[in-house]
Amino acid sequence: MYLELEHLDKRFGEKRVVRDLSLELAQGELLCILGASGCGKTTTLNMIGGFLTPDGGRILLDGQDITPIPPEQRPVTTVFQSYGLFPHMTVLENVTYGLKFRRLTGQQIRERGMSYLELVGLADRAQSRIQALSGGQQQRVALARSLAVEPKLCLLDEPFSNLDAALRTKMRHELKRLQRELGITMVFVTHDQEEALILADRIAVMEEGALAQLNTPEELYRRPATPSVARFLGVDELEWRQDGTVWKAIRTRGPI
Ligand SMILES: Nc1ncnc2c1ncn2[C@@H]1O[C@H](COP(=O)(O)OP(=O)(O)O)[C@@H](O)[C@H]1O
Ligand SMILES: [Mg+2]
Repeated sequence: MYLELEHLDKRFGEKRVVRDLSLELAQGELLCILGASGCGKTTTLNMIGGFLTPDGGRILLDGQDITPIPPEQRPVTTVFQSYGLFPHMTVLENVTYGLKFRRLTGQQIRERGMSYLELVGLADRAQSRIQALSGGQQQRVALARSLAVEPKLCLLDEPFSNLDAALRTKMRHELKRLQRELGITMVFVTHDQEEALILADRIAVMEEGALAQLNTPEELYRRPATPSVARFLGVDELEWRQDGTVWKAIRTRGPI
């Protein structure tokens, strides 16, 4: 598999925040990590990005054990909720920032930067100051910056949660289109089941630091593995047998 998380563990003091988390991802797949606030989503993403060192387990990407590699040397980029742009630079300078350290000429860097700005629909704002852009536009710049270095893996941590509802919906569809077009492998963290449903090829539901279920959106709704996954997805279980699988009426308040 392209990305493999093997038995990841993370503690903060006494608290075990990520517990024996294992999952695999194919190249070009978009995986959503879905779970309530505080369940360990950001901690997991930060271990993949290299910003946190796991206490146990390892991370393999494209056959390479990246666990000991510092974040700036991993072929991985992250888009944060807070954009994380450089306010004193132009839009294009932000997008090409990560390319400065590559063996590329100035012209190649500019062309690459412009092509990714084109992809996110902001080529005409290349020379604008960051502060002159709306929140949605800034998040598009952050996305273009993350994609411009052509990483093996792009991580996104609740990137649209600062945007209003209409813009959030638009950005989800744009992201999905871009991800398909470019065939880029993504891990997208969210606490929003509707968002996960729209975006994900597969969804990993996390509960209290552990993986509760990993499946396609459809299968998750049809066969939630535990009562708490069912509740989190908005499925009311009117009859429930965990082993022996007796399923009677299931009423869903979710998007499916
Ligand atoms: N640096 C830290 N030090 C101590 N506790 C932390 C730290 N980062 C996160 N936590 C705790 O770990 C748990 C999981 O946090 P996090 O991964 O941010 O959850 P999520 O992203 O799912 O909301 C929470 O209880 C949080 O308070
Ligand atoms: Mg978080």
